[in-house]
Amino acid sequence: MIAPPYVLIVDFGSQYTQLIARRVREARVYCEIHPCHTALETALGRKPAAIILSGGPASIYDEGSPQLDRRLLDLGTPVLGICYGLQAIAHALGGKVEPAREREYGRAYLNAVRPGSTLLRGISEGAQVWMSHGDMVIEVPAGFTVVASTADTPVAAFEDTQRRIAGVQFHPEVVHTPQGATVLRNFLFDIAGLGPTWTMASFIESTVDRVRELVGEARVVAALSGGVDSSVMVALLARAIGPRLHPIFVNNGLLRKDEAREVRTTFDHMGISLHYVDASERFLSKLAGVTDPEIKRRIIGEEFIRVFEEEAEAVPGVGFLAQGTLYPDVIESVSSRGGPSATIKTHHNVGGLPERMRLRLIEPLRELFKDEVRELGAQLGLPESLIWRHPFPGPGLAVRILGEVTPDRVRLLQDADAIAMEEIRKAGLYRDIWQAFVVLLPVRSVGVMGDGRTYEHVAALRAVEATDGMTADWFRMPQDVLATISNRIINEVRGINRVVYDISSKPPSTIEWE
Ligand code: XMP
Repeated sequence: MIAPPYVLIVDFGSQYTQLIARRVREARVYCEIHPCHTALETALGRKPAAIILSGGPASIYDEGSPQLDRRLLDLGTPVLGICYGLQAIAHALGGKVEPAREREYGRAYLNAVRPGSTLLRGISEGAQVWMSHGDMVIEVPAGFTVVASTADTPVAAFEDTQRRIAGVQFHPEVVHTPQGATVLRNFLFDIAGLGPTWTMASFIESTVDRVRELVGEARVVAALSGGVDSSVMVALLARAIGPRLHPIFVNNGLLRKDEAREVRTTFDHMGISLHYVDASERFLSKLAGVTDPEIKRRIIGEEFIRVFEEEAEAVPGVGFLAQGTLYPDVIESVSSRGGPSATIKTHHNVGGLPERMRLRLIEPLRELFKDEVRELGAQLGLPESLIWRHPFPGPGLAVRILGEVTPDRVRLLQDADAIAMEEIRKAGLYRDIWQAFVVLLPVRSVGVMGDGRTYEHVAALRAVEATDGMTADWFRMPQDVLATISNRIINEVRGINRVVYDISSKPPSTIEWE
């Protein structure tokens, strides 16, 4: 879809495959990850400018281990093998791979770095590298030169400058290999002859062209949630097709305090007109009397589809639905269809809408990682506050009000939550935290205010650190910030007389309480 050059990353199931892609993109080279069993087909279909073979958990001698198709090495395309990738090259071209005496895991230091090596240009003798392997190459194939060793690994790196094939036993993509980015750049720029041409400006330009061509004169509907991904998607599509984009923003009454107003103002300032639907009452009346979290989720999901469908059907000539799917979701769903990667996550989006509405799907962010989406948002002129917004669940405050969701409870939680967010921002902590929020508990506690006894709600403050939300640790919030948040909530929000701080990690807890 994007004009070449691209680097094909062949996934042999390493946990680090996505990191390789991130590093290549940081070097401003476009790349895509494909599972090993479809890599040849991909390479024959769209010729890559270079190929990187990832690591993997298997031994090449294991039965059923992912195989490197030798034909990938015969295309004349430059190849870099990493860990298992290096062993697979050696094995395929007639070298020798054997189990090491012990699995080597952790830091190692390069020695015998060969002067004149292209792959290791600028890498100093003694450079720290990260190792994680059970097998190793003990004999390199004909034409290859060993360009570095470590105390335990005779072939830490090799290269064949004629064929432009190279490999490293260590992992250049992880931070524990401090000069890893140099090794990758040497491969990309000096061995493969690529240049750092993939920038956000070039991405915007090519995507705008592509979207215009795909959409023609049709109209596109999109669900805007106010989160980073859907906001960036809307800003990008608006640049491509202007008023033929119809972003629909449904207020389900379960958003944070003032959020609906802020989102509308932001897009208003950018000259993008939103189709705003205040469906608060509709959602809240459906939720009356419901306490089970999964039933709340189902009701909100179904109601959202109904509202969205009604609004979208009113748009004349609509042919497409846009979604803010990101690259990690795409890779994970590929892996679960047969790639060797062990991580399988269910891929959730606006369930079933495109088929139901007979719309074609556009996913303009499906090649991007989260940090790239943020960079794109900044280039498109979205404000910092939106670009760095914490993730917010689709069912919104409904899963943060334990027990029944009522309009009064929503207001109570919105007020308490707004105070917590204000203080976290004031303390300069917002960007250090993955997600922070207040939860309204279904218990009351006794308090004393002035001369009187109170019997009111308890609120829990939750703040976690995470990189992807799959695991999380509770945030070590400074005590003075905790004190201010607690004092303000108890004094300013009538109906809450106690605040507790959640000190549970995920697993075994989850980030949300419901
Ligand atoms: P948990 O609570 O499972 O949350 O540790 C992990 C991440 O997912 C978000 N989350 C949701 N997002 N619909 C969503 O769109 C949901 O039903 C939902 N439940 C949890 C949560 O906020 C956190 O970022």
